[in-house]
Amino acid sequence: MKSFIFLFFYLVITTNASSITNTQIAYPPSNTTNKVCFFSHWTVFIYNRIKNPITVHVQSGDDDLGNHTLALNENENWSFCDSFKTLFYAHFYWNSRTAFFNVFDTQTSEKYCSKWAHNKHRRCFWLVREDGFYVGGHLNPFPQGWTKLHDW
Ligand SMILES: *[C@@H]1O[C@H](CO)[C@@H](O)[C@H](O)[C@H]1NC(C)=O
Ligand SMILES: *[C@@H]1O[C@H](CO)[C@@H](O)[C@H](O)[C@H]1NC(C)=O
Ligand SMILES: *[C@@H]1O[C@H](CO)[C@@H](O)[C@H](O)[C@H]1NC(C)=O
Repeated sequence: MKSFIFLFFYLVITTNASSITNTQIAYPPSNTTNKVCFFSHWTVFIYNRIKNPITVHVQSGDDDLGNHTLALNENENWSFCDSFKTLFYAHFYWNSRTAFFNVFDTQTSEKYCSKWAHNKHRRCFWLVREDGFYVGGHLNPFPQGWTKLHDW
């Protein structure tokens, strides 16, 4: 019986943890009803605040979101269920400049992104600026609430 219960939870966790939901990306930020996650339900946003278009390439062990070109103020966003080992990394290209770092991992998200609350849809925002990359839990006007974590 014990192992049955364990198996059940194992299945729930692995089923929930694996997938990214590209089809549900376009809902408004306040909508928390789309998806049920065993742990946190996240959406990560990457906003371009540079006048030139930039190219962003987000990947994880399981998913490749592909190259996206963002004009000024455009964003790329994606949603997923956190499995406590979820990790997304990204390459950034701006003319001849490049950058590469984790755009979502457990330490960064707990420290800088929106906080956990029961049934809360959590968010993480990146601002790509000429002077580097800033993270925050809300889309506040710059610079209030933003932390610079990376340079070009
Ligand atoms: C939230 O999203 C769901 C599923 O996409 C939709 O049915 C519902 O109407 C949305 N709610 C709001 C308040 O936008
Ligand atoms: C993505 O875009 C960059 C910059 O334009 C390019 O160097 C890279 O090869 C592209 N990657 C893919 C998989 O298309
Ligand atoms: C999320 O990205 C999609 C394009 O993939 C865009 O249409 C949508 O407006 C973005 N969501 C928000 C809240 O900006």
